[in-house]
Amino acid sequence: MNKVIGIVGAAVLLAGGYYLGQANQPGPTIIKVPSEPRATFSSSGAEEVADTANVPARSLQTPTSGELIVVKDGESIQEAVNAASPGAVIKVMPGVYKETVYIDKDNITLSGVIEQGNYPVLEGEGVRNDAVLYSGNGVTIENLHITHYKGNGVMGQAGNNYIIRNNWIVDTGVYGIFPQLGKNGIVSHNIVSGIEDAAIYVGMSDNVDVVYNQVYESVAGIEIENSRHALVEGNMVYDNTGGILAFITPGLPIKTCGDVIFRNNFVVDNNHENFAIPGSLVSNIPSGTGILVMACDDVVVENNIITGNKSAGMIFTNFELASSASNDPEADPNPNRPRILNNIMRNNGDSPEPVVRAFLATQLELRGPDIVDTVGMDDGCILNPERYRTLGLEKYGECEFDSTANVASYTLPEPVPPRSMEGLDKGKLVYYGVCAGCHAYNSRMIGPPTQIIQALYMDNPQGIADYAANPVKKRQDYPQMPPQAHLDEETRLAAAKFMLELTK
Ligand code: HEC
Repeated sequence: MNKVIGIVGAAVLLAGGYYLGQANQPGPTIIKVPSEPRATFSSSGAEEVADTANVPARSLQTPTSGELIVVKDGESIQEAVNAASPGAVIKVMPGVYKETVYIDKDNITLSGVIEQGNYPVLEGEGVRNDAVLYSGNGVTIENLHITHYKGNGVMGQAGNNYIIRNNWIVDTGVYGIFPQLGKNGIVSHNIVSGIEDAAIYVGMSDNVDVVYNQVYESVAGIEIENSRHALVEGNMVYDNTGGILAFITPGLPIKTCGDVIFRNNFVVDNNHENFAIPGSLVSNIPSGTGILVMACDDVVVENNIITGNKSAGMIFTNFELASSASNDPEADPNPNRPRILNNIMRNNGDSPEPVVRAFLATQLELRGPDIVDTVGMDDGCILNPERYRTLGLEKYGECEFDSTANVASYTLPEPVPPRSMEGLDKGKLVYYGVCAGCHAYNSRMIGPPTQIIQALYMDNPQGIADYAANPVKKRQDYPQMPPQAHLDEETRLAAAKFMLELTK
């Protein structure tokens, strides 16, 4: 068979070979598609993910020992955690639990029991900061209803091999689900809404699957930040200010973001008013943004349904969008090698926000595009560009692959070893794992830049440690810092010393 007639052509030949043989007959249109095996997707760090084709999707399980602890309404979850040995399963019965739960042991499963639609509720009453904070490895958090906290619903601080699933999280302040500085994790089947920064925020992490979640009415739906190997798939993302984001926050210790796949998501009507804390990075997200990629490399956008986002369907940009983010000479500002495969896009850009309108004016456009690259990258690729209204994609070529199906999961087939404390300065670990969630070196995040704190506390690490244990409200334009009293005195002091030594 003719080498260039592939599947479609072959079908036409079988069914319509008769016509092809006849001269002077109006023949069917023969569509030529290449018959060579298609190139498969490979990411720049593929060797780290081993042979993904042979990895069963999301094989991660957190180990259990057989120890079972049941917590009933009126009892304390924290006491159960304190009593638990590594490997314990803690079952939480329906009821209302007004507390913050700290898990610093390994292989703990915190598992809600849902009966007839009744969840165990972690209730922050608008006064507590965090519902669940874990720093152990192999932790599972599931089946909880978490609401009315001021800081985080579930936050991970440097724990590896984690699973956060089937939780229902409403109005927990800054972040809904926030695994930070962890490797190998799954965030799946959670429902998260009413969050003033990101509903799901994967920060400084590696090998994470964020799949089948529903996120809405938050400033950012799903955020992949300074992370590598993240698969964001099958999520329902609507009515946020911005739907799905991948970006670098400048000034954080981990300076790269890359190998991110956004696949099979619904990204619909993300037109919520931006209610982020003024001055925070996400306060720059224009309302009506479907997908936003800022400075993150090798992002593949594939098979999503992206509709009704009134500023733009998809934005690729550099740090210029984040006016509050100061320069970080070590972070590359460009979104290198964007890969836009087939997506369904409709009704995007109908009523762009002023900042987007200003950019459009420079392009002599009024309506927002389906896809815009404000940098004009010359190493991008797109399939079927004629299907969309695009801006700034003139230098994009055609992608060499049309699917990432060979990546079933970015989690690793075997659990990774716990982050070792040996050889690692404790202060550094705690600074990166805890403080850096809110403090970047030279740019404003939730808290003021570390540089400013250094100026205030030059020779006084003890002062920082004391403040962190018992923070008082100081700045009008920042929220109050949540107390870090769960860290012991020595740990706080070590983090404070490290904070003062940082130079970038
Ligand atoms: C959840 C976010 C968050 C985390 C985590 C966090 N901070 Fe903060 N931090 C803030 C905010 C917000 C402020 C500003 C508070 C204000 O001005 O009222 C702040 C302010 C500070 C200040 C300035 C105090 C002053 O006198 O002006 C210090 C010092 C500080 N943080 C240290 C730390 C250390 C050390 C850690 C880690 C152990 C840490 N922070 C973790 C949010 C956070």
